[in-house]
Amino acid sequence: MALKSINPTTTKAWNSLKSHLETIKNEHMSHWFAQDKERADKMTIQWDDFYVDYSKNRWTHETIDLLLQLAKEVDLKNAISKYFSGDIINQTEGRAVAHVALRDPNYVDFFVEGENVMPEVKRVKDQIKQFTENVVGQKFKGFTDKPFTDIVNIGIGGSDLGPAMVVDSLQYYKNHLTTHFVSNVDGDHVNEILKKLNPETTLFVIVSKTFTTQETLSNATTIKNWFLNYGSQEDIAKHFVAVSTNIAKVKDFGIAEHNIFPMWDWVGGRFSLWSAVGLSISLSVGYENFESLLSGANKMDEHFKNEEFDQNLPVILALLSVWYNNFFNVESQAILPYSQYLNQFATYLQQAIMESNGKSVDRSGNKVNYQTGTIIWGEPGTNSQHAFFQLIHQGTKLIPADFIGFAKSLYGDKDHQDKLMSNFIAQTEALLNGKTKEQVVSELQDQKLSEEEIKQLTPYKIFEGNKPTTTILIKKLTPESLGKLIALYEHKIFVEGVIWNIFSYDQYGVELGKQLANTILKELNVDGVATEHDASTNNILKYYKSL
Ligand code: F6P
Repeated sequence: MALKSINPTTTKAWNSLKSHLETIKNEHMSHWFAQDKERADKMTIQWDDFYVDYSKNRWTHETIDLLLQLAKEVDLKNAISKYFSGDIINQTEGRAVAHVALRDPNYVDFFVEGENVMPEVKRVKDQIKQFTENVVGQKFKGFTDKPFTDIVNIGIGGSDLGPAMVVDSLQYYKNHLTTHFVSNVDGDHVNEILKKLNPETTLFVIVSKTFTTQETLSNATTIKNWFLNYGSQEDIAKHFVAVSTNIAKVKDFGIAEHNIFPMWDWVGGRFSLWSAVGLSISLSVGYENFESLLSGANKMDEHFKNEEFDQNLPVILALLSVWYNNFFNVESQAILPYSQYLNQFATYLQQAIMESNGKSVDRSGNKVNYQTGTIIWGEPGTNSQHAFFQLIHQGTKLIPADFIGFAKSLYGDKDHQDKLMSNFIAQTEALLNGKTKEQVVSELQDQKLSEEEIKQLTPYKIFEGNKPTTTILIKKLTPESLGKLIALYEHKIFVEGVIWNIFSYDQYGVELGKQLANTILKELNVDGVATEHDASTNNILKYYKSL
């Protein structure tokens, strides 16, 4: 059964939120903290090893109540139950959205179009486990009987970003294998990686849900040809495995049937790291850690499915996003992990969030008359403090930011960790309170500046504050806590999509460019000048061909 189609702007709550905004939009959060000593306590959720403080945001309890009312009016409860029962909620592609089934440690029956998918999920997980143990345990070897030293994941989009982010984030837990990721069709990418590899000791994992993606097939072909300079056609079976729904195409490519890890059309690419798409994760950190990642996500699934909305992390974070996006007309959101391990987290979320909710047609086929998907960007702190924080503190744009931190460091260096976390905490304090004119003047007086100098400098040194942040403080970065964090954002995406009345699980917007690139690719390889395009495109093509 399909998701309901309710234009959120027609709800009572939406209208109330509009007028409510007028009453609070110019208020400074610091006043709310002064007025209500319990604000921080009331606006913090402690769940498992997560401490989420959303009090430093431009909203009040009344705002939250109205947003919860909005969630009710768009029937979020009903949507969640459809999500978790395998309904065809990816309606435009005629598919269920069932990545949650992949991480249920108890393999409770999960039906997609009348079929219990769990036996198959379990079979493929056993296949991942066996394969991982054989490679990591050096039972499987290369064509000259040497154990594997390197893994190369060949994929793009969801077949690259999720596994790449997780492998990088969990590098502390990795084994002896070095994992590489080839994604871009830019030949320099694959060649730079090949340069580092020994064909005798490298295992290639080709990941493509469709097995038709230009980038992945080009890279896989280039790599296969490179490999054949050293090994024979028969040796391919020892060095190449694939993950795909398109078994026939994988076989055509020359991969042995026993080397194919299936996936299913009910797993969306950007939500697929929990499936065999995560094979490179399992190879890199071992199957047990891969399982922990999945069980962390499952704990978040249970929380999301069962918790009351006012205590429900994905729901609260999604409501906050809707509040900024649709009422404050904020355009972007920053993701700021205070952990170098989460270096690729914002990049990963860009696909998860922007490919899902960058839509402008609603679930009734009408153009929406309100804003949808936010722009996601970010970099780890403290590096980002020395790059773009200036704009967040004193620029003209309002940028809500998620500060994600871990209380314990993995190597246990207290000195560094305290410095890191003092920055983490101080930044949200600075963004909240800012610095007043009086404070600036008094500081400059202490520095013995002249009256004239103080007058001139003061405006530049004032911080207005009132900049929203949400603190997500997690005890420690482990496979399990990372699983929870990723699932938190996955469900946030779902809730936003439900409220915005859009289809979050298709991605037709990436097709047009692909089609045109195919046409242009053909034109690049024939003589003559293209005239079929607009004048600018014709000129660029002509110039490129002339070089
Ligand atoms: O860029 C569009 C897209 O379809 C993504 O959604 C997907 O993750 C990526 O391409 C790769 O697709 P595939 O796994 O089929 O190669």
